[in-house]
Amino acid sequence: MSGEAILDAQELSTSFIVKRARRRFELKAVDNVSFQLNRGEILGVVGETGCGKTTVGRSLVGLVRPKSGRVVYDGEDILSLGEKRLRDIRLRIRMVFQDPYASLDPRRSVGDSVAEAGDIHGLFPNRQARAESIDTTLRQVGLDPFFAKRFPHELSGGQRQRVGIARAILPTPEIIIADEPVSALDVSIQAQVLNLLLDLQGSLNLTILFISHDLSVVGQISSRIAVMYLGRIVELAEATALYAAPAHPYTKALIAAVPRADPTRRVSGGGARAELPSRFEVPDGCAFASRCPVKQQRCLTETPRLRSLADGRLVACHFA
Ligand SMILES: Nc1ncnc2c1ncn2[C@@H]1O[C@H](COP(=O)(O)OP(=O)(O)O)[C@@H](O)[C@H]1O
Ligand SMILES: [Mg+2]
Repeated sequence: MSGEAILDAQELSTSFIVKRARRRFELKAVDNVSFQLNRGEILGVVGETGCGKTTVGRSLVGLVRPKSGRVVYDGEDILSLGEKRLRDIRLRIRMVFQDPYASLDPRRSVGDSVAEAGDIHGLFPNRQARAESIDTTLRQVGLDPFFAKRFPHELSGGQRQRVGIARAILPTPEIIIADEPVSALDVSIQAQVLNLLLDLQGSLNLTILFISHDLSVVGQISSRIAVMYLGRIVELAEATALYAAPAHPYTKALIAAVPRADPTRRVSGGGARAELPSRFEVPDGCAFASRCPVKQQRCLTETPRLRSLADGRLVACHFA
């Protein structure tokens, strides 16, 4: 679990105020989340839809403002910076989104979209340097430079996501936050985009936070995996250790639910079959207790803290 931390998220909490039945509620989308992103790694973040993965990613770069916590990058707390400094930081920590079609302007050519961050921040000394940068970046994501003249509607889903990745890497970032980058793609195309991210991580020395609701996707690309449940990290471990011996009952349920190639093995929910509890009534004690097959009385009253096991993994369960 060692490695040099390039980004250190400390006790991040992000809430949204939402109205329900004419009352205002605080929805704790992210609740006291801490983790380190180590230089050169791919850290996966997995958990069901609504558990706060996107909010973690957006909080890291100040796209939503956490209520409390710190994000230490390059020796300073990003969240204490003003908007102008934050925009500069966002050249070094870039986002890739789920739906490249939604994030690409339909009236802009691919080349203009890829160059956007460079245009805004004045990164190109002249037209020729700009054109060369677009060419190089398109090649890096496996697209022929003639794509620069194309428009988003002329591209396939996989090609559009390659453009989304090109937009992210053009300013030579250190960190990529990829939020469900393959979730909108056909399974056959998913593997190509995952391989591209792996290649780029090596060739460009990137550190990647890879967010997905799909554990099998996260497992294909990540060296470590953080499992989230209702706004909290419940387990964080090396990917191989997590698969070999999941410690948290929720992780066990997730792994049991991943479809296996072996048809003789039963696919089950691992006991965690109940619905996700309402985000407005997060229960006392362990948030997973209502779905947990091994819960005890203690779990209903005492919230388990994230603690370190002998092998270095972190787990938030009284009985792990
Ligand atoms: N802008 C917002 N306003 C209100 N609630 C939000 C907003 N963004 C996210 N949420 C809520 O916060 C929780 C976590 O959402 P999100 O971070 O998108 O989860 P995930 O990415 O894991 O699906 C959800 O209950 C979601 O409805
Ligand atoms: Mg999300």
